[in-house]
Amino acid sequence: MRSIIINKYGGPEVLEYVEMPKPVAGRGELVIKTKFAAVNPADWKVRQGNLKIITGRKFPKTLGIEASGIIDSVGEGVSSFVPGQHVFAAKDYTTGTYSEYFKISEKNVLLLPESMPFEDAASIAVTGVTAYQCLLRHGGIEEGMNVLVNGASGGLGIMSVQIAKILGATVSGVCSSKNVEFVKSLGADTIIDYTKENILDSESRFDIIIDSAGNLNLKNAKKLLSKRGIIIKVNISMQTIRELVFTSKFSSKKIKLVLMRVIKEDFQWVRDQIAMGNLKVYIDTVFDLKDCKKAHEYSETLRAKGKILLKA
Ligand SMILES: NC(=O)c1ccc[n+]([C@@H]2O[C@H](COP(=O)([O-])OP(=O)(O)OC[C@H]3O[C@@H](n4cnc5c(N)ncnc54)[C@H](OP(=O)(O)O)[C@@H]3O)[C@@H](O)[C@H]2O)c1
Repeated sequence: MRSIIINKYGGPEVLEYVEMPKPVAGRGELVIKTKFAAVNPADWKVRQGNLKIITGRKFPKTLGIEASGIIDSVGEGVSSFVPGQHVFAAKDYTTGTYSEYFKISEKNVLLLPESMPFEDAASIAVTGVTAYQCLLRHGGIEEGMNVLVNGASGGLGIMSVQIAKILGATVSGVCSSKNVEFVKSLGADTIIDYTKENILDSESRFDIIIDSAGNLNLKNAKKLLSKRGIIIKVNISMQTIRELVFTSKFSSKKIKLVLMRVIKEDFQWVRDQIAMGNLKVYIDTVFDLKDCKKAHEYSETLRAKGKILLKA
């Protein structure tokens, strides 16, 4: 089978399109024939070696943390899946989905309605579930709350704006001029075009700030928070770590770092909202698996409007 692997950390040039042995399902595992694997910023952060503490130094590595596909075979002890079913799966960072086939624990797999396009399924986990968990599990979203999504036109931002609206919030979105109409069409009530105004000058107060763009922190954005407000960070940085340590010391949790966790009921919620048509999936570009280098280069520009996919 064809796979994208890396034999060392580095730039897009370390991505190799090679022949690898097809995996065999172990106990409690499935082998999935990939339809689409999503390219997320986390993948090129792994490729660059920024997550070495998790991904280690063993090579070769296959990148990719989410994919949709068809079950090819099931291992011993698997009772809830059979070959031929359409599924979606999310993995950890250590072995990936950029491959014609991949194996995975059945715990990380979700059935798709037959009517759901495989492309749409690629927005369930890293963008959909993260947005849901940021808003609900960490932000404690309630109807009528004021939510700010900084980076509203990217993969995570698109899902955050829509999910916050579904959950009854008033939503403001920060994006560049070219994406103003698009973010409006997602349901955002107010748009801040960051090329014309600085959100830090705003008089508004927010209960939840999702900082997808990564340039807000307690130091510069605390004044944007309501009394019970919280900034949710999705990227690890020294500033965030310092602020997390500081606020935990004084027990006023004004900032949180959130990493997506595989919780099946959250996956089901996002899948069902997509299936019901409440949550719309936006695909920016689909690349062939062999063109993974181009896909990474594009993702690294941080200009994507929605998901970037690899077609296996
Ligand atoms: N913790 C987690 O579990 C988790 C999960 C998902 C994502 N993330 C992280 O969240 C970040 C966003 O991910 P993503 O998938 O949404 O990335 P993405 O799709 O590549 O985001 C691209 C978007 O970022 C916007 N953007 C760039 N600079 C901006 C700025 N200064 N202000 C506002 N918007 C800006 C761009 O909009 P314009 O073209 O309009 O500027 C573009 O639409 C990444 O760093 C990723 O690693 C973390």
